Amino acid sequence: MKILVTGASGQIGKHLIPQFANTEHNVIALDHQQLDITDLDKTVQLFKHCQPELTINLAAYTAVDQAEENSEHAFAVNQQGAANISKAADSINAPIIHLSTDYVFSGNKSTPYTENDIPDPINIYGKSKLAGELAVRQFNPRHLILRTAWVFSNESKNFLTTMLRLARQQEIISVVDDQSGGPTYAKHVAQTIVALTNQLADFTAADWGIYHYSGTPYTTWFEFAQAIFQAAQQKHGFTTPQLTPIKSSHYKTPARRPHNSQLSNQKITDRFTIQPGNWRFALEELLTKPTPD
Ligand SMILES: NC(=O)c1ccc[n+]([C@@H]2O[C@H](COP(=O)([O-])OP(=O)(O)OC[C@H]3O[C@@H](n4cnc5c(N)ncnc54)[C@H](OP(=O)(O)O)[C@@H]3O)[C@@H](O)[C@H]2O)c1
Repeated sequence: MKILVTGASGQIGKHLIPQFANTEHNVIALDHQQLDITDLDKTVQLFKHCQPELTINLAAYTAVDQAEENSEHAFAVNQQGAANISKAADSINAPIIHLSTDYVFSGNKSTPYTENDIPDPINIYGKSKLAGELAVRQFNPRHLILRTAWVFSNESKNFLTTMLRLARQQEIISVVDDQSGGPTYAKHVAQTIVALTNQLADFTAADWGIYHYSGTPYTTWFEFAQAIFQAAQQKHGFTTPQLTPIKSSHYKTPARRPHNSQLSNQKITDRFTIQPGNWRFALEELLTKPTPD
């Protein structure tokens, strides 16, 4: 299959492109410079020229705190950009896999979120991503919206790399212990996208829609930080900083975060036999191996 990937140089894209290298798919990987998804004309033109049979949209404005002040930019990319890609793909009859987030939910639920739960985002990033989901659903009936959460890898800016950086700079690190979710290894998201792609040929109309995919087991940021340092210490023998649990109310950020970011994997497992990846095993892999793949 000929596949066009947008936002290909981001955290998930860096894992997705190598995953496709082992398949027979022909992948056109475009970074921000090669295609700005907010430019509708260029997007439509490019799709007409390349004629992909599937598009995977990884392009997004992901700076959660900065989005509070840059709302216009966040919506331009996450809503309008998603609309543009969906329209361009639909115009050449190509389906779309579009990435979304747990932040479409408020986090007020006490159990894992399913695809049937009603989104009610509490920050601008979440609102812009929800608007993007609605645009994808509106403009391309053949869509897979894959919501994931707490993505980490050993490059890019994410919780794992931030913790390792802070450990080199500080003896004491405070981490919130009242937000829970499933840390998700970027490579596992990439493998899930490839698995979905490989099953597209067998899709029935009922298979399009929203799916959740998150790492397992659920944990808190505090426990995740503990696990990172335990693994890092075993492998590299570095000095573990002192970790202090704090409440979100004492760790002020411009954007509010949901207390519950847990996404249920039931639907994707039942329909596509895709199992959630274990983040503890992924940490072991990452902290013993310097490269992601
Ligand atoms: N990271 C997480 O924890 C997480 C959690 C849940 C869902 N997701 C979703 O997963 C997807 C991929 O996330 P990620 O972690 O790979 O994010 P990322 O590392 O920030 O990558 C996003 C990419 O999009 C590009 N981009 C931004 N604006 C663009 C535009 N107007 N046109 C084209 N490209 C543009 C960025 O390029 P520049 O950097 O050059 O601007 C970047 O390469 C996103 O939809 C995100 O919402 C991520």
